[in-house]
Amino acid sequence: MTQLTLLLQNRRLLITGAARGLGQAFAKACVQAGAKAVIADVDTQRGKALAQELGDAAYFVAMDVASRASVQAGMQEAVQWLGGLDGLINNAAITNSGGKMMSEIEEDMFDRVMQVNIKGVWLVSNAAHPHLKAAAAAGVAASILNIASDTALWGAPRLMAYVASKGAVISMTHSMARELGGDGIRVNAIAPGLVVGESTEYVPQARHDQYMEGRALKRAQQPQDCTDAAIFLLSAGAGFVTGQVLPVNGGYVMN
Ligand SMILES: NC(=O)c1ccc[n+]([C@@H]2O[C@H](COP(=O)([O-])OP(=O)(O)OC[C@H]3O[C@@H](n4cnc5c(N)ncnc54)[C@H](O)[C@@H]3O)[C@@H](O)[C@H]2O)c1
Repeated sequence: MTQLTLLLQNRRLLITGAARGLGQAFAKACVQAGAKAVIADVDTQRGKALAQELGDAAYFVAMDVASRASVQAGMQEAVQWLGGLDGLINNAAITNSGGKMMSEIEEDMFDRVMQVNIKGVWLVSNAAHPHLKAAAAAGVAASILNIASDTALWGAPRLMAYVASKGAVISMTHSMARELGGDGIRVNAIAPGLVVGESTEYVPQARHDQYMEGRALKRAQQPQDCTDAAIFLLSAGAGFVTGQVLPVNGGYVMN
Protein backbone atom coordinates (compact mmCIF):
# COMPACT_ATOMS: atom_id res chain seq x y z
CA MET A 1 0.00 0.00 0.00
CA THR A 2 1.67 3.17 -1.14
CA GLN A 3 -0.04 5.11 -3.89
CA LEU A 4 -3.56 4.28 -2.66
CA THR A 5 -2.95 5.70 0.83
CA LEU A 6 -5.81 7.82 2.22
CA LEU A 7 -8.21 7.19 -0.66
CA LEU A 8 -10.73 6.25 2.04
CA GLN A 9 -10.04 9.11 4.46
CA ASN A 10 -12.80 9.27 7.13
CA ARG A 11 -14.95 6.70 5.35
CA ARG A 12 -17.14 4.60 7.67
CA LEU A 13 -17.04 0.96 6.57
CA LEU A 14 -18.42 -2.38 7.65
CA ILE A 15 -16.60 -5.50 6.47
CA THR A 16 -18.20 -8.90 7.01
CA GLY A 17 -16.04 -11.94 7.65
CA ALA A 18 -13.12 -9.71 8.55
CA ALA A 19 -11.71 -11.71 11.46
CA ARG A 20 -9.28 -13.58 9.20
CA GLY A 21 -8.20 -14.13 5.60
CA LEU A 22 -9.07 -11.69 2.85
CA GLY A 23 -11.56 -9.87 5.09
CA GLN A 24 -8.81 -9.17 7.58
CA ALA A 25 -6.62 -7.90 4.74
CA PHE A 26 -9.47 -5.62 3.59
CA ALA A 27 -9.92 -4.26 7.12
CA LYS A 28 -6.21 -3.52 7.54
CA ALA A 29 -5.90 -1.92 4.10
CA CYS A 30 -9.03 0.22 4.54
CA VAL A 31 -7.76 1.51 7.89
CA GLN A 32 -4.38 2.25 6.29
CA ALA A 33 -6.27 4.14 3.59
CA GLY A 34 -7.87 6.36 6.24
CA ALA A 35 -11.17 4.59 6.96
CA LYS A 36 -12.88 3.58 10.18
CA ALA A 37 -13.75 -0.10 9.95
CA VAL A 38 -16.21 -2.36 11.72
CA ILE A 39 -15.10 -5.97 11.68
CA ALA A 40 -18.28 -8.07 11.58
CA ASP A 41 -17.77 -11.79 12.08
CA VAL A 42 -18.92 -14.93 13.90
CA ASP A 43 -15.36 -15.46 15.12
CA THR A 44 -15.38 -13.25 18.20
CA GLN A 45 -11.91 -14.16 19.40
CA ARG A 46 -10.06 -13.32 16.22
CA GLY A 47 -12.33 -10.40 15.40
CA LYS A 48 -11.69 -8.72 18.74
CA ALA A 49 -7.95 -9.37 18.48
CA LEU A 50 -7.86 -7.68 15.07
CA ALA A 51 -9.86 -4.70 16.31
CA GLN A 52 -7.43 -4.32 19.19
CA GLU A 53 -4.46 -4.53 16.81
CA LEU A 54 -5.95 -1.79 14.60
CA GLY A 55 -6.66 0.54 17.53
CA ASP A 56 -9.10 3.45 17.48
CA ALA A 57 -9.95 3.03 13.80
CA ALA A 58 -11.54 -0.38 14.22
CA TYR A 59 -14.32 -2.02 16.21
CA PHE A 60 -15.57 -5.59 16.39
CA VAL A 61 -19.22 -6.53 16.08
CA ALA A 62 -20.51 -10.09 16.42
CA MET A 63 -22.60 -10.87 13.36
CA ASP A 64 -23.85 -14.03 11.68
CA VAL A 65 -24.66 -12.79 8.18
CA ALA A 66 -27.11 -15.66 7.66
CA SER A 67 -29.33 -14.56 10.56
CA ARG A 68 -31.62 -11.56 10.10
CA ALA A 69 -31.75 -10.86 13.87
CA SER A 70 -27.98 -11.01 14.19
CA VAL A 71 -27.48 -8.77 11.13
CA GLN A 72 -29.94 -6.18 12.40
CA ALA A 73 -28.42 -6.07 15.89
CA GLY A 74 -24.87 -5.99 14.50
CA MET A 75 -25.68 -3.27 11.98
CA GLN A 76 -27.25 -1.11 14.67
CA GLU A 77 -24.19 -1.44 16.90
CA ALA A 78 -21.86 -0.78 13.96
CA VAL A 79 -23.69 2.33 12.79
CA GLN A 80 -23.76 3.66 16.33
CA TRP A 81 -19.99 3.24 16.67
CA LEU A 82 -19.24 4.62 13.21
CA GLY A 83 -21.78 7.46 13.37
CA GLY A 84 -23.27 6.32 10.04
CA LEU A 85 -22.20 4.08 7.18
CA ASP A 86 -20.57 4.95 3.85
CA GLY A 87 -19.41 1.57 2.64
CA LEU A 88 -19.95 -2.16 2.97
CA ILE A 89 -17.76 -5.05 1.93
CA ASN A 90 -19.78 -8.28 1.69
CA ASN A 91 -16.85 -10.61 2.22
CA ALA A 92 -18.10 -13.32 4.61
CA ALA A 93 -18.49 -16.68 2.90
CA ILE A 94 -17.91 -20.37 3.41
CA THR A 95 -16.65 -23.03 1.04
CA ASN A 96 -17.93 -25.96 3.11
CA SER A 97 -18.10 -28.57 0.35
CA GLY A 98 -14.72 -27.72 -1.23
CA GLY A 99 -13.10 -30.76 -2.83
CA LYS A 100 -16.34 -32.71 -3.18
CA MET A 101 -17.94 -33.79 -6.43
CA MET A 102 -21.53 -32.66 -6.98
CA SER A 103 -22.81 -36.12 -5.99
CA GLU A 104 -20.89 -36.01 -2.70
CA ILE A 105 -22.23 -32.69 -1.41
CA GLU A 106 -24.54 -33.18 1.55
CA GLU A 107 -27.83 -31.32 1.50
CA ASP A 108 -27.25 -29.40 4.71
CA MET A 109 -23.82 -28.33 3.42
CA PHE A 110 -25.40 -27.06 0.20
CA ASP A 111 -28.06 -25.16 2.14
CA ARG A 112 -25.57 -23.58 4.53
CA VAL A 113 -23.40 -22.33 1.65
CA MET A 114 -26.44 -20.65 0.11
CA GLN A 115 -27.51 -19.18 3.45
CA VAL A 116 -24.16 -17.60 4.23
CA ASN A 117 -22.91 -16.73 0.74
CA ILE A 118 -26.17 -15.55 -0.89
CA LYS A 119 -28.72 -14.81 1.80
CA GLY A 120 -25.99 -13.16 3.87
CA VAL A 121 -25.21 -10.67 1.10
CA TRP A 122 -28.91 -9.87 0.79
CA LEU A 123 -29.52 -9.45 4.53
CA VAL A 124 -26.47 -7.29 5.21
CA SER A 125 -26.99 -5.14 2.11
CA ASN A 126 -30.63 -4.58 3.11
CA ALA A 127 -29.63 -3.58 6.62
CA ALA A 128 -26.96 -1.23 5.23
CA HIS A 129 -29.18 0.35 2.58
CA PRO A 130 -30.88 3.15 4.59
CA HIS A 131 -27.55 4.21 6.10
CA LEU A 132 -25.77 4.19 2.73
CA LYS A 133 -28.65 6.15 1.23
CA ALA A 134 -28.31 8.79 3.94
CA ALA A 135 -24.55 9.00 3.32
CA ALA A 136 -25.08 9.39 -0.43
CA ALA A 137 -27.67 12.11 0.19
CA ALA A 138 -25.02 13.89 2.26
CA GLY A 139 -22.63 13.79 -0.68
CA VAL A 140 -20.42 10.86 0.38
CA ALA A 141 -19.35 8.26 -2.21
CA ALA A 142 -21.51 5.46 -0.76
CA SER A 143 -20.97 2.00 -2.11
CA ILE A 144 -21.16 -1.75 -1.65
CA LEU A 145 -18.41 -4.11 -2.69
CA ASN A 146 -19.32 -7.77 -3.04
CA ILE A 147 -16.58 -10.38 -2.95
CA ALA A 148 -17.37 -12.92 -5.65
CA SER A 149 -14.88 -15.46 -7.03
CA ASP A 150 -13.42 -16.15 -10.43
CA THR A 151 -14.42 -19.80 -9.94
CA ALA A 152 -17.93 -18.64 -10.93
CA LEU A 153 -16.52 -17.32 -14.22
CA TRP A 154 -14.84 -20.56 -15.29
CA GLY A 155 -16.88 -23.21 -13.43
CA ALA A 156 -14.34 -24.73 -11.08
CA PRO A 157 -15.08 -28.44 -10.52
CA ARG A 158 -15.33 -30.02 -7.05
CA LEU A 159 -16.70 -26.73 -5.73
CA MET A 160 -20.19 -26.61 -7.21
CA ALA A 161 -22.22 -25.23 -4.31
CA TYR A 162 -19.69 -22.48 -3.68
CA VAL A 163 -19.38 -21.69 -7.39
CA ALA A 164 -23.17 -21.45 -7.69
CA SER A 165 -23.32 -19.11 -4.70
CA LYS A 166 -20.67 -16.85 -6.21
CA GLY A 167 -22.52 -16.82 -9.53
CA ALA A 168 -25.49 -15.54 -7.55
CA VAL A 169 -23.33 -12.86 -5.93
CA ILE A 170 -22.34 -11.67 -9.42
CA SER A 171 -26.00 -11.52 -10.52
CA MET A 172 -26.96 -9.77 -7.28
CA THR A 173 -24.26 -7.18 -7.93
CA HIS A 174 -25.88 -6.34 -11.26
CA SER A 175 -29.39 -6.23 -9.83
CA MET A 176 -28.45 -4.30 -6.70
CA ALA A 177 -26.53 -1.74 -8.77
CA ARG A 178 -29.70 -1.00 -10.77
CA GLU A 179 -31.95 -0.95 -7.68
CA LEU A 180 -29.70 1.25 -5.54
CA GLY A 181 -28.31 3.52 -8.25
CA GLY A 182 -31.27 5.86 -7.83
CA ASP A 183 -30.20 6.38 -4.21
CA GLY A 184 -26.68 7.27 -5.34
CA ILE A 185 -25.23 3.98 -4.09
CA ARG A 186 -22.73 2.14 -6.28
CA VAL A 187 -22.51 -1.67 -6.16
CA ASN A 188 -19.53 -3.53 -7.60
CA ALA A 189 -17.77 -6.84 -7.10
CA ILE A 190 -14.31 -8.25 -7.37
CA ALA A 191 -13.75 -11.83 -8.43
CA PRO A 192 -10.46 -13.00 -6.92
CA GLY A 193 -8.60 -16.02 -8.18
CA LEU A 194 -6.92 -18.50 -5.86
CA VAL A 195 -5.31 -16.41 -3.12
CA VAL A 196 -2.51 -17.69 -0.91
CA GLY A 197 -3.85 -17.98 2.66
CA GLU A 198 -5.30 -20.02 5.48
CA SER A 199 -8.55 -20.88 3.69
CA THR A 200 -6.81 -22.25 0.60
CA GLU A 201 -4.29 -24.48 2.38
CA TYR A 202 -6.58 -27.46 1.71
CA VAL A 203 -6.59 -26.84 -2.04
CA PRO A 204 -4.57 -29.57 -3.81
CA GLN A 205 -1.24 -28.55 -5.33
CA ALA A 206 -2.59 -29.53 -8.75
CA ARG A 207 -5.20 -26.72 -8.54
CA HIS A 208 -2.50 -24.21 -7.48
CA ASP A 209 -0.37 -25.38 -10.45
CA GLN A 210 -3.36 -25.08 -12.80
CA TYR A 211 -3.90 -21.48 -11.71
CA MET A 212 -0.21 -20.62 -12.02
CA GLU A 213 -0.06 -22.11 -15.53
CA GLY A 214 -3.26 -20.38 -16.68
CA ARG A 215 -2.47 -16.89 -15.40
CA ALA A 216 -1.10 -14.28 -17.75
CA LEU A 217 0.96 -13.08 -14.77
CA LYS A 218 3.02 -16.03 -13.55
CA ARG A 219 3.05 -15.60 -9.81
CA ALA A 220 1.00 -16.55 -6.76
CA GLN A 221 -1.92 -14.28 -5.87
CA GLN A 222 -1.56 -12.41 -2.58
CA PRO A 223 -4.28 -10.72 -0.49
CA GLN A 224 -2.88 -7.28 -1.38
CA ASP A 225 -3.73 -7.92 -5.02
CA CYS A 226 -7.37 -7.81 -3.89
CA THR A 227 -7.16 -5.00 -1.33
CA ASP A 228 -5.84 -2.40 -3.75
CA ALA A 229 -8.68 -3.18 -6.20
CA ALA A 230 -11.22 -3.02 -3.36
CA ILE A 231 -10.00 0.36 -2.17
CA PHE A 232 -10.26 1.78 -5.67
CA LEU A 233 -13.83 0.51 -6.13
CA LEU A 234 -14.90 1.91 -2.74
CA SER A 235 -13.24 5.27 -3.36
CA ALA A 236 -14.70 8.41 -4.91
CA GLY A 237 -12.35 7.82 -7.86
CA ALA A 238 -14.66 5.03 -8.98
CA GLY A 239 -17.65 7.37 -8.73
CA PHE A 240 -19.12 6.41 -12.13
CA VAL A 241 -18.33 2.70 -11.86
CA THR A 242 -21.24 0.49 -10.82
CA GLY A 243 -22.62 -2.94 -11.59
CA GLN A 244 -19.16 -4.16 -12.54
CA VAL A 245 -17.39 -7.38 -11.66
CA LEU A 246 -13.63 -6.99 -11.71
CA PRO A 247 -11.69 -10.25 -11.93
CA VAL A 248 -8.53 -9.85 -9.85
CA ASN A 249 -6.73 -13.02 -10.80
CA GLY A 250 -3.57 -12.31 -12.79
CA GLY A 251 -5.48 -12.82 -16.03
CA TYR A 252 -6.61 -16.40 -15.38
CA VAL A 253 -10.08 -15.46 -16.62
CA MET A 254 -10.46 -12.43 -18.88
CA ASN A 255 -13.63 -10.43 -19.60
N1 LIG B 1 -9.16 -17.13 -0.58
C1 LIG B 1 -9.40 -17.24 -1.87
O1 LIG B 1 -8.60 -17.80 -2.64
C2 LIG B 1 -10.64 -16.62 -2.45
C3 LIG B 1 -10.81 -16.65 -3.83
C4 LIG B 1 -11.95 -16.07 -4.38
C5 LIG B 1 -12.89 -15.51 -3.56
N2 LIG B 1 -12.70 -15.53 -2.20
C6 LIG B 1 -13.74 -14.92 -1.38
O2 LIG B 1 -13.13 -14.01 -0.50
C7 LIG B 1 -13.88 -13.97 0.72
C8 LIG B 1 -12.97 -14.27 1.89
O3 LIG B 1 -12.41 -15.56 1.69
P1 LIG B 1 -11.26 -16.12 2.63
O4 LIG B 1 -10.51 -17.08 1.80
O5 LIG B 1 -10.55 -15.01 3.28
O6 LIG B 1 -12.14 -16.93 3.70
P2 LIG B 1 -11.81 -17.33 5.20
O7 LIG B 1 -12.48 -18.64 5.42
O8 LIG B 1 -10.36 -17.22 5.50
O9 LIG B 1 -12.55 -16.20 6.04
C9 LIG B 1 -13.94 -16.09 6.05
C10 LIG B 1 -14.37 -15.29 7.26
O10 LIG B 1 -15.81 -15.24 7.24
C11 LIG B 1 -16.27 -15.53 8.54
N3 LIG B 1 -17.61 -16.11 8.46
C12 LIG B 1 -17.97 -17.37 8.07
N4 LIG B 1 -19.29 -17.53 8.18
C13 LIG B 1 -19.79 -16.35 8.63
C14 LIG B 1 -21.09 -15.90 8.94
N5 LIG B 1 -22.16 -16.69 8.83
N6 LIG B 1 -21.24 -14.62 9.37
C15 LIG B 1 -20.17 -13.80 9.51
N7 LIG B 1 -18.91 -14.18 9.24
C16 LIG B 1 -18.73 -15.45 8.80
C17 LIG B 1 -15.26 -16.50 9.13
O11 LIG B 1 -15.32 -16.54 10.55
C18 LIG B 1 -13.95 -15.92 8.59
O12 LIG B 1 -13.45 -14.93 9.46
C19 LIG B 1 -15.02 -14.95 0.54
O13 LIG B 1 -16.16 -14.27 0.04
C20 LIG B 1 -14.49 -15.89 -0.49
O14 LIG B 1 -15.51 -16.56 -1.19
C21 LIG B 1 -11.62 -16.07 -1.63
